[in-house]
Amino acid sequence: MTPAISFQQVHKTFATPRGELRALTDVSFDIRQGEFFGLLGPNGAGKTTLISILAGLARATSGRVTVMGHEVVSDYAAARQSLGIVPQELVFDPFFSVRESLRIQSGYFGVKHNGAWIDELLEGLGLADKAGANMRQLSGGMKRRVLVAQALVHRPPVIVLDEPTAGVDVELRQTLWQFIARLNKQGSTVLLTTHYLEEAEALCGRIAMLKQGRVVALDRTSNLLAGTASTMLRFKTDDTLPADLLGQSRVTGRIAQIKARDAIEVEAVLARLRAAGVRVEDLEIGRADLEDVFLEIMNGAEPPHVTQPPRAADQAEPTLAEVAR
Ligand SMILES: Nc1ncnc2c1ncn2[C@@H]1O[C@H](COP(=O)(O)OP(=O)(O)OP(=O)(O)O)[C@@H](O)[C@H]1O
Ligand SMILES: [Mg+2]
Repeated sequence: MTPAISFQQVHKTFATPRGELRALTDVSFDIRQGEFFGLLGPNGAGKTTLISILAGLARATSGRVTVMGHEVVSDYAAARQSLGIVPQELVFDPFFSVRESLRIQSGYFGVKHNGAWIDELLEGLGLADKAGANMRQLSGGMKRRVLVAQALVHRPPVIVLDEPTAGVDVELRQTLWQFIARLNKQGSTVLLTTHYLEEAEALCGRIAMLKQGRVVALDRTSNLLAGTASTMLRFKTDDTLPADLLGQSRVTGRIAQIKARDAIEVEAVLARLRAAGVRVEDLEIGRADLEDVFLEIMNGAEPPHVTQPPRAADQAEPTLAEVAR
């Protein structure tokens, strides 16, 4: 089957006053039709740049990108028609109402008699009571919902969401994910970037991680989670951890998290804390989550699965849409 999205040896450099900036280096991977795929990476890793190239808003310095088989430069119109993009930046036309802006977007893609779908979008994204409101009158989170609706108005088979939940409240996030998950079940491909790693962990079947413009990990979410130290001690303390434990620890205010491979190492860590006189409150022992994996990979530790899995195995994996059928 034609991949929904294919990145082949994508390089991107920006000319800056201080010389050339390499934003993307040799990015190559495919996203299959029906996948819910996560693209993660710290600020400046190159996620938005890659999405801009996909959307035809920026040109790759070299390499090839296709959407549903259409090359994004030579076959721009077909590629763009296959894509619904929710941009990271809030951009909107202040002169129109919510419904008008959706109608205009429909027209832009040549979709006529789209009223029923527009109503469904307004309903599904919790915008029904704002349909007549001017874009200027909306709060930031509501504007973001309208951007999502605009991206979906022509029923694109491939949906790209660049930080769709930044600044969005909990209830809205749940509404949004229910709606997107339903479209994914019905066969849409979803590419998501987010800094909320628990969202990525819950939603994405596969994840690619970018670091300084390179793909440093790409695997099924479950494999990424399985490949890391499996146990995590979490507790509160006012004391400083002993230096020899800091390498495997993450400290956020009073909360300390320490990785351990197995039960024996858990015991060793506890013994070390006791010996160092560290007072431990509210101790919990749990599984490592995607945030732990992410930090491990970004901090340069040998990532559990660096390169792409072999093609054949890769393609044998059922997609969410296939599972749903
Ligand atoms: N138009 C541009 N001109 C010059 N440099 C740029 C341009 N756009 C992006 N960059 C640089 O390219 C790099 C990647 O930026 P990009 O916006 O793709 O990161 P990102 O992964 O989306 O980050 P964030 O998580 O903050 O959204 C950064 O170093 C950024 O400064
Ligand atoms: Mg970005």
